[in-house]
Amino acid sequence: MSMGLGELGEVAGISKVMLGKEQGEGQGLPGLLIENPHCRATVALQGAQILDFQAAGQRPLLWLSERALLTPGKAIRGGIPLCFPWFGSHPQDASKPAHGFARNREWQLSAASLGEQGHTLVFTLNADAATRALWPHDFRAELHMELGQTLCLSLHVHNTGAQPFSFTFAFHSYFPVADIRQVCVEGLDGSRCIDQLAATRTPQPYGGPVTFAGETDRIYLAARGDYRIIDMVSGGETRIKAPGCRSAIVWNPWAEKTARLGDMHPEGWQGMVCVECGNVESDRVTVGAGQGVECGVVLG
Ligand code: BG6
Repeated sequence: MSMGLGELGEVAGISKVMLGKEQGEGQGLPGLLIENPHCRATVALQGAQILDFQAAGQRPLLWLSERALLTPGKAIRGGIPLCFPWFGSHPQDASKPAHGFARNREWQLSAASLGEQGHTLVFTLNADAATRALWPHDFRAELHMELGQTLCLSLHVHNTGAQPFSFTFAFHSYFPVADIRQVCVEGLDGSRCIDQLAATRTPQPYGGPVTFAGETDRIYLAARGDYRIIDMVSGGETRIKAPGCRSAIVWNPWAEKTARLGDMHPEGWQGMVCVECGNVESDRVTVGAGQGVECGVVLG
C-alpha cells in the first residue's frame, strides 16, 4: 500500500510542507511536519531524511546546517541522512555518488499512524532503472520511523531478486554540541578503528573515549552499538542504541575541510558531531534471494 500525500489529512499531527521555499531558491523539497504530545519533527521525503526532532521538554536532538541545500537530488547536510547501499565512496567506482543513492532519491510514504506513543511512519524505496544503473540488484528498502519520546529508525532491506547481494549502510546522524573541543563520545573501546585520515586502512584495536582536537574521520568495526555523547559545556548527554549495527563512524570536518564544503558555515564544525551507526567494511550485510534484514537505532 502506498499513501499519497493527499491522504495524510486522515492522520492527525502530520502536515505537508515545501522545505527550503523560504530561502527563495529553486522549488524546495516536499516534507512533513510531525507533531504529537511527545515530540515535533520535520522529515524530507528525499532520503526519508529526518531533519529535526525535539522531544517534549528536551533540547533539539539533531543538527542541521544553516546552509543545507534543500534542492532535489542534492544531499542534505544535517539530520539523519541514510547512507545506502554503500557507505563512503563506492568501492570500485568513485564516480558513483558518495554514501550511495538512497539519500538523493525521493522515498514514498507507505504507511502512517498515530498511537499513544506517537507517530509511526514507513517510507519505501524500490529498485528501478535508475537504482539498477548504479547498483545491479532488485530490492525493497523500508525506513520505519517511530517519533515519540525517543526517535527510533529501522532500516528493512528485502532482496526481491534471484541472487544474494551485500550492502553497507549507516544512519549518518548529525548532533548539535556547544563546542566540539569539549565533547566526549563513550562506548567505542574494545572495537577496531580505521582512521580514514591515516595512510593505512588496517583496523587497530581502540581503547578509551573519543575526544576532538582536529579533523576526525574514523570507522569503528565490531563495536557494541551503545554510545553516549557527552557535552561537557552543557552537561547534556545523548544516548545512541543500535544493537544490530556493528559499525560506528565518528566525524567532524574541523576548519579546513569545512571551508571546502559548500553547505556549511565556516564556523559550523564547532557546533556539530556525527556519530553514525551502521554496518560497513567487514561488517557488511549479505541478504539471500527472497530474504530480508532489519537494523535499527534508538536516539534520545
Ligand atoms: C562521513 C565520512 O561519514 O561523512 C566522511 O566518514 C565524509 O569521510 C562525511 O566526509 C561527509 O560526507 P558527505 O558526502 O555527506 O560530504
